[in-house]
Amino acid sequence: MEIGGKIIHLESVDSTNRMILSDEYRNMPSGTVMTAEIQTAGRGRGNHLWFSPRGGLYFSILLSAETHLNEYNKLAIMIAHTIRGRLLKYSPNVDFRIKWPNDVFADDKKICGILIQAKTRGDESRIAIGIGINLNITEGDFPEEIGRNAASLSHLTEARIDPEKFLAELLPEIENTHRLFLAGGFEDLLDEINIALYSKGRERDFIVRGKTVNYRILGINPDATLRVYSPETGIISLDMGDLK
Ligand code: BTN
Repeated sequence: MEIGGKIIHLESVDSTNRMILSDEYRNMPSGTVMTAEIQTAGRGRGNHLWFSPRGGLYFSILLSAETHLNEYNKLAIMIAHTIRGRLLKYSPNVDFRIKWPNDVFADDKKICGILIQAKTRGDESRIAIGIGINLNITEGDFPEEIGRNAASLSHLTEARIDPEKFLAELLPEIENTHRLFLAGGFEDLLDEINIALYSKGRERDFIVRGKTVNYRILGINPDATLRVYSPETGIISLDMGDLK
C-alpha cells in the first residue's frame, strides 16, 4: 500500500509512534498513517518529550522493515529534505535547513522533528516514522524554554496553514522519497542535503555519550553519519548512537 493509503485520525493520544506500533494496530498494512490533533506524551529523541499542543501536525507512518534497521537513518534524513522542500513552497524566503540527524530548522529555530522507532517480533520488524511539524502554534503556546528555540510555519507565513492540505501534499512526496530510499538512492540526494545542512562549516556543541564536545560540522557521509572535526580528534564521523 502507498504511504497514506489508509489514514487513521485521532483526536488525542499519548504518542502516535507508540500507538501505531502497539498490538492494537498490529494488523495495519505498511504505509498506514496515524495523525493526532494533540499528543499528551509526544516523544522526541533521547528521552525528550515532544511538546504537542493543538495546532501542530503530528503523525506517524507505519512501515514494514525491508532492509537493515540502521539504514532507516538515511530515510529520516531524506524525509527531512522532503519536508524542507514542502516548507519552502509555503515560505520561499526562509532559510530552512536540515539538521543532522533528522530535524528541520527555520533560520535558527526548530520547526520539525523526526523520530524513528522500531518494534521487532520474531523476524519481522515494524517501523514508525514519527513526524512533528509546528504548523499553527502561536509563540505564546510554547513553554518559554522551548519557545526560544522553536519556529511555527504560520508565524513565518503570517497566515493559518490548513493541516489536511499540508499533509495531503506531503504524503505523496514522502512516498516518492521512500521509493528512492528502497532503490538505494540516498547518495543521489546527498549533495542537495549537504547544501542545505544546518551549521555546515560552523562549530557546534554535541552531547556525545553524556559529554558536551565541540566540533566543526563538515558534512553528512554516504552512510548517513556526520563528518566533524576538532583539533583533538581530527576528522571523525558521528553516528546517531553517539548522541546518547
Ligand atoms: C525530535 O525532535 O526529537 C523528534 C520529535 C518527533 C515528534 C513526532 S510527533 C509524531 C510522533 N509521535 C511521537 O510521539 N513523536 C513523533
